[in-house]
Amino acid sequence: MPDDHSKLVPLLPIPNRTVKRLCADDSAGSRVKVGHRQALIAPNPPSNSKGWGVLRYGFRIKSYFSSICSETFSMLLQDILYSQGFGTRRVCAGLIQQGRVEICESFADQAAKEYSVCTTATTEFDLDQLSLRVQGIEWKFYPKAYILLNKPTGTECSQKPSTYPSVYSLLPSPLRHRPTKSAIQGVQAVGRLDQDTTGMLLLSDDGQFIHRMSSPKKHVAKVYQVTTKHPIDPAQVAKLMAGVVLDDDPVIVKAAACVSVESHRLDLTLTEGKYHQVKRMLAAVGNRVESLHRSRIGNMNLPDDLAPGKWRWLDEADLQLLTMSS
Ligand code: URA
Repeated sequence: MPDDHSKLVPLLPIPNRTVKRLCADDSAGSRVKVGHRQALIAPNPPSNSKGWGVLRYGFRIKSYFSSICSETFSMLLQDILYSQGFGTRRVCAGLIQQGRVEICESFADQAAKEYSVCTTATTEFDLDQLSLRVQGIEWKFYPKAYILLNKPTGTECSQKPSTYPSVYSLLPSPLRHRPTKSAIQGVQAVGRLDQDTTGMLLLSDDGQFIHRMSSPKKHVAKVYQVTTKHPIDPAQVAKLMAGVVLDDDPVIVKAAACVSVESHRLDLTLTEGKYHQVKRMLAAVGNRVESLHRSRIGNMNLPDDLAPGKWRWLDEADLQLLTMSS
């Protein structure tokens, strides 16, 4: 498909949002930007294909990042609040009727953001660029949640921790209560880190994204900064690269990369995530992990400005970096 903006996607006057062509993907069709979200336009519109939605004016689209692109562009306020995890529909309607919900529909610059109270639960709002203020707290509308947490030491990745506080206690309540199709509410961690491991932890309520990031078949690289008890010698590095057998598992596991940084410091890249894998691999070569920090997933590094215990939304650029290699 030629890279000619004018021919590919007619720039239709869709109110409050722009459909902008980003690139053509031979296998899947044109990639477009719809407001701040990305979608694929079907090369030959599939009829009734699962996962494809109809954009206004007849385009058949599929979200580019599983479901970052909402196929619904406006919703009732009570449903918006419900979808974001503010409680049951009845609770959400109550919050609205009590005047506790303010809306900002679009804003060119953050400083100019203007909120107004809406007390009618059934008012319909456009989802693009929508920000809410619920009981005074700002909340940007996201159809799906993609979260990065800098996990601090002494926290468990379980919803029901046994000894240490749960990482979920570091997230605001709406993220933990977003409705999902599964039995478990809210965002889920993409894999687990041990209680004493620090660094990058992804959480999402998008099952496809969780699968894509955690499945061993997808080979998403994860870089661990390992501090060891004993000095690291070249033979240990060679063994980690060649593959080792873990205590209770006959299958050989290999590091995708292994760089000795200092006498007791190693950067180990893995593309799978077996239980205690780094610790067991180091034990298998006669060493021991003293501390472990996950610094990179896919092509994304842990941002320097995200302090331990803090979280932030992942934006489209982050999602591109994370999924590029998968
Ligand atoms: N490998 C481990 O041993 N522990 C972690 O937390 C992650 C990878």
